[in-house]
Amino acid sequence: MLTGGGDAPGLNAVIRAVVKAGSNSGIEVVGLEDSFDGLIEPNRSRVLTPRDVTGILRLGGTILGTTNRGNPFAYPVSTSEGVHDYSTRVVEMFHKMGLDALVVIGGDGTLGIAHEFCKRGVPVVGVPKTIDNDIVGTTNCFGFDTAVAFATDAIDRLHTTAEAHHRVMVVEVMGRYAGWISLYAGVAGGADAILIPEIPFDIGIVADRLRARDQWGAQFSIVVVAEGAYAKGGSLSLIEAAREGYAERLGGIGAQVCEALARETGKETRSVVLGHLQRGGAPTSFDRVLATRFGAKAVELVRRRDFGTMVAYDPPDIVARRLDEVVGKTKTVPLDSDLLLTAKALGITFGD
Ligand code: F6P
Repeated sequence: MLTGGGDAPGLNAVIRAVVKAGSNSGIEVVGLEDSFDGLIEPNRSRVLTPRDVTGILRLGGTILGTTNRGNPFAYPVSTSEGVHDYSTRVVEMFHKMGLDALVVIGGDGTLGIAHEFCKRGVPVVGVPKTIDNDIVGTTNCFGFDTAVAFATDAIDRLHTTAEAHHRVMVVEVMGRYAGWISLYAGVAGGADAILIPEIPFDIGIVADRLRARDQWGAQFSIVVVAEGAYAKGGSLSLIEAAREGYAERLGGIGAQVCEALARETGKETRSVVLGHLQRGGAPTSFDRVLATRFGAKAVELVRRRDFGTMVAYDPPDIVARRLDEVVGKTKTVPLDSDLLLTAKALGITFGD
């Protein structure tokens, strides 16, 4: 079992469930360290017993470590040397270690890598993880609920200071190319504008909405901006462009929106980036339960030798999906989604 990509609250709950359910059905579980590094470098694995996972249910992070810079097919060797293909070594190491199955807990990138190894004969079961909630085939990924809860709490706190100072507070949240965190936290936190990648925004429309609030007496506003949001005719805001072995890093749009709104409205504005705080801390009870169900289901699929699959949440059930039907795609917010329409009905602007 390995954990790959950015961490998400609930990873340890999955690890615990796999170890406990595995142990109860006579399966020995080996934990691989730092994603696929555990199959590239020797001595980066350990047998996990129920004793090793006692007490980790509520812990953020992952006891196995993780990386989002460790694709064995394009492994960054050093900044000057580019990337190296270690995929053959991974397959050899898998067999040399006498492993029978590989449970991969990861997001779209890691599950895509797992799928490639599946095609090379490695029996894989995937478990979808990401705070972004953008994996196709599952209604929820664990980590998302915790990230939304944190962002909502942050917005609540910003509300009081925004109101006290008659300011506009702009909050940038994570989510990559999907607006799920922004939409859910924005609605839960009572935002006045929510900007998401699925709807390129017109800053003039957002400014109009803030001015209208001033006119009826609410002289403060909250604007939630997804890191992947961008203006109509504009482009994504990047902290770092993509290069071989490294995905692009999104960020900066919150500050840009903040500046533009100050210009357009003449109001005092401030921006806050929630960043990695959204990935830290204890998982919510929803995420603990979902992660636990995912882990137990992954063991069931291993026992049934139902490989090339990913566990998924199809309320109220946990089901299996074919990996080849879910990898390489992004689940974005549908423009006719009930929550989006609800937000619009309440007068929240998306800048469109
Ligand atoms: O995919 C999860 C996520 O937190 C995204 O929301 C964000 O864009 C990215 O990971 C940040 O990754 P890193 O850990 O490399 O900063």
